[in-house]
Amino acid sequence: MALCYLNGEFLPLAAARVSPMDRGFLFGDGVYEVIPVYGRRPFRLEEHLARLQKSLAAIRLSSPLDEAGWRAVVARLVGEAEWEDQSLYLQITRGPMAVRNHAFPKEARPTVFALAEALSPPPPEQVENGVAAITAPDYRWLRCHIKATSLLANCLLRQMAVDAGCAETVLFRDGVLTEGAAANVLVVKQGVLHAPQKNHLMLSGITYDVVLELAQRHGLPVVVRDIFVEEVFAADEIWLTSSTKEVLAVVELDGRQIGAGAPGPYYRAMYRWYQAFKESARRG
Ligand code: PDD
Repeated sequence: MALCYLNGEFLPLAAARVSPMDRGFLFGDGVYEVIPVYGRRPFRLEEHLARLQKSLAAIRLSSPLDEAGWRAVVARLVGEAEWEDQSLYLQITRGPMAVRNHAFPKEARPTVFALAEALSPPPPEQVENGVAAITAPDYRWLRCHIKATSLLANCLLRQMAVDAGCAETVLFRDGVLTEGAAANVLVVKQGVLHAPQKNHLMLSGITYDVVLELAQRHGLPVVVRDIFVEEVFAADEIWLTSSTKEVLAVVELDGRQIGAGAPGPYYRAMYRWYQAFKESARRG
């Protein structure tokens, strides 16, 4: 039976109970993290916890646990889960309210929830052949740097891709690339990796950072700048990055072939570098 953490207690997931008056349930008033775990070692834990603090600060909620507290919760869940490789979920909401009211309660009692699940990286055929994606206007709010649990727009946008038989929806705001429904998006053109600039219109991806670091370490030139819609279609390669997808090549966008229509040489190199980096993290 899966073990979870809820408000100071470790208990079976099936026994966990949250009030229907919780602001996470009624308003999506909360933030979260998804942390990959390899060989029971959380990957980039410090960076994920730092991003969680930023998300909490951005929604004006103080962290219910200090760093040592978070690390203790993580260590117990990761240690007791049945899988070596896991996807660790952390969520904090502004907690329950006495009566439904948009304004914050005077004294919030945050609800803290954490759960380890099995990590399912992309299947080998997706790594080998790449995936198809569609595009859509980015109609989300203007605070996409906050990893908020209010993900209705992201869910609708991801479902558009699923309905089209695709893996992801690539989003553009005023003709400029932002990210995917649940991943960052980077492109390669003529041997240069182009990454969108981090700002309030996209999530600052931990995997995005790892990929840029690996590119720099291995001598692949990187340019961080606004990327326009026509450049994405004309790219040699398009990559998706996320904690659960790692790095995945998009080979078809809105039915149009990208590059050679197969994962390109830079993708293959980055995939190798990423796997090697992961394995070194797994060994500690
Ligand atoms: N999502 N952008 C969005 C909108 C995301 O939801 C995610 C990840 C990313 C990539 O961030 P990172 O590399 O730190 O995982 C970018 C997670 C995996 C999720 O919601 O399940």
